[in-house]
Parts: sequence; structure tokens; C-alpha cells
Amino acid sequence: MSDKLKIAVIGAGRIGAVHARTIRDHHSAELVLVADPVGDAAARLGAALGVDSTTDVDAALVSGAVDAVVIASPTPQHVPHALAAVGAGKSVLMEKPVALDLAQVDDCIAALGDDADRVMVGFNRRFDPSVAEVHARVQAGDIGAVEQVLIISRDPAPPPSGYLAVSGGIFKDMTIHDLDMARHLIGEVVSVRATGQHLDPEVDDTYDAATLTLTGAGGAVAVIVNSRHSAAGYDQRIEVFGDQGTLEVTNQRSSSVRMHDATGTERSGLFLPFFLERYQRAYAAELDSFVAAALTGAPQSPSIADGRAALALAEAAAESAATGAVISIGQEAIR
Ligand SMILES: NC(=O)c1ccc[n+]([C@@H]2O[C@H](COP(=O)([O-])OP(=O)(O)OC[C@H]3O[C@@H](n4cnc5c(N)ncnc54)[C@H](O)[C@@H]3O)[C@@H](O)[C@H]2O)c1
Repeated sequence: MSDKLKIAVIGAGRIGAVHARTIRDHHSAELVLVADPVGDAAARLGAALGVDSTTDVDAALVSGAVDAVVIASPTPQHVPHALAAVGAGKSVLMEKPVALDLAQVDDCIAALGDDADRVMVGFNRRFDPSVAEVHARVQAGDIGAVEQVLIISRDPAPPPSGYLAVSGGIFKDMTIHDLDMARHLIGEVVSVRATGQHLDPEVDDTYDAATLTLTGAGGAVAVIVNSRHSAAGYDQRIEVFGDQGTLEVTNQRSSSVRMHDATGTERSGLFLPFFLERYQRAYAAELDSFVAAALTGAPQSPSIADGRAALALAEAAAESAATGAVISIGQEAIR
């Protein structure tokens, strides 16, 4: 392997383009190929970034010209793409969720065996500098014992209906980030209660908003609030309440200017528009971690086991929303 990790991006949509640009700008990585079977998506992204492109995804996954692949294809393709790439000796950064079905994730983990260490799941929010600081300070005991966590995550507007059709629903597609964040902050979860709402009649899905209550094995409780629309823009907040203090991640804005006058005090600058802008540094730090582990052979993290655990919680949330029951999470979900 050369000094730089040679990477192919599979899927040239919204997040594929983010990864491709981030790889292009990384000092220890080289973007060598973009693959997408639909229309001219790969050709356009490849031309924009000055790299080769192909519609032959199967060939790209096993190409001898690459050391690693980033899987940014639609969710149903994640597992087959990861298995093909890992089977060809590649390291894999796989977008979330791992799959739409827990049984498929279990089959994937079984098929990967020890090679599962070469797979990172794209829970990029762990790498956001503010989230990483909160996590480090929680671990350092700065706020004592964590008692309650509040995670608010609202998108500015719903995704296109074509995306929704293969997304697996709000819990597996959107809440999955927050479920991972809850595990990151309170540890393993033992029960889930969820309420779904269908607020926007234009959204062709069972729910476009949800509220979840998760109880951690240590007694801490995490509440997640999601919506697929938000008039105020992309709303991303976290509060961790401990017996010695509170840590907060607040919304980031396009401008930090404030005006104060006799009528009051006013802040200008909208929230950063969406995930591309808000989590730009997180995607870069995520890639940093992926590249470093791939080049040194260290195990990737977040792991596919983390992806499985979050998906188990998403399935429990869907069941709770449908039945009104509080769902206990079995030990088999905690691996
Ligand atoms: N971590 C994050 O912040 C984040 C953000 C957005 C999306 N995602 C995840 O990334 C994945 C893609 O989401 P998106 O928003 O980029 O979707 P998208 O619809 O914008 O892009 C998907 C791309 O995959 C291509 N595609 C279709 N079939 C394919 C195949 N068989 N092989 C390869 N490519 C194929 C499509 O042509 C399209 O260009 C989803 O699993 C989603 O959950 C993660």
C-alpha cells in the first residue's frame, strides 16, 4: 500500500458527494474512483472532482486500484456492497444504517467474521468537535453522573419521495443517528418507548416526526425529539444533565453577529442549513479516523456492532410506536 489510502466512493448522491470532496481534500487519502449505476451521476461527480468514474459498481467494489471504499449507495445496497468490498480485501466506510433489517445485519456480521474490524459505520456525529468535547468531558467526570440526556434533531425539510421509499422509515433512517448518540452518551439501552406523528400530509411515510424515551442500563434516561421539517432550519441540539452540571451542544449559525439596542437584543444568522454544512468538520474527522485505522490496521470505530445496536433500537422504536408498548432490549441486541 502506498502512503496514501486509495479510495473509491460508491453512490454519487448527496452524501457520496460529501465523502468524495472530503477524500479529495485529505492529506493521507486519494480519491481514485466514483461509481454509480444511475444515469450520469458518477460521470458528473467524477468530472467535477477530476477523477475516474464508472457505472460498473460491482467492478469498483473489488478494483485492484483501490485500498478502501466508501459506501454511499441507498441503504438496501449497504450490506451486499460491504461484503463484496471486504471480501476483496478493502477497508469499508459504510453509511448508516447498516441495513433495514436486523437479521441481515446479523448475517453480515457472521459472514465478515474477524474482517468486521475493517468496517466503519458512518455515525459522523460522534466526530463533530462539539459532540466529541461533550463526550470527552462526560467521560472525564466533569458533570458527575449522567442522569438525563436530551437530543433534538430536526431536518429543515423532508427528503424527496424517491429517497423516502427506500429509507426504511424515520426510526431507521433519521433517528438512527440519535440512537447511536444516546448509546454514546448513556451507554447501553435497556428499554425504548416511542411515539410517532404524521404531521406533513405531503410526506409519503408512516411518520415524519417522533419522540422517544430510552432508559440506560445505568438508570440514565435519554429523550430524542425528531421532525422531518423545521421552520427555523436544521435544528441540532444536545443537552447532557449530570448531578454536577450540564453540558450543551447548541445550534451553529452562519453568522455570530448580535445587535443590541433599546428595543432588545437580536441575533442574526440562520442555523447552518443542513447536514452538509453543520457536520462538515465531523465528516472530515470521521474520514481522518477511517484513514488512520485503514493504514495502520487498527479496528474501525464506530463498528458494525454499533450499527447493529442502533438498528435494534430503531426496530424497537418502530414496534413501540405501532403498539404503544415499552420495548425491552434483549441482551442479544447488546454485542
Ligand atoms: N451520515 C450522514 O450524514 C448521511 C446523510 C445522508 C444520507 N446518508 C445515508 O447515505 C445513503 C445515501 O443517501 P443519499 O442521501 O446520498 O441518497 P441519494 O439518493 O442522494 O444518493 C444515492 C445515490 O446512490 C445511487 N445508487 C442507486 N443504486 C445504486 C447502486 N446499486 N450502487 C451504487 N449507487 C447506487 C443513486 O444513483 C444516487 O446517486 C443512505 O443510506 C443514507 O441513509 C447518510
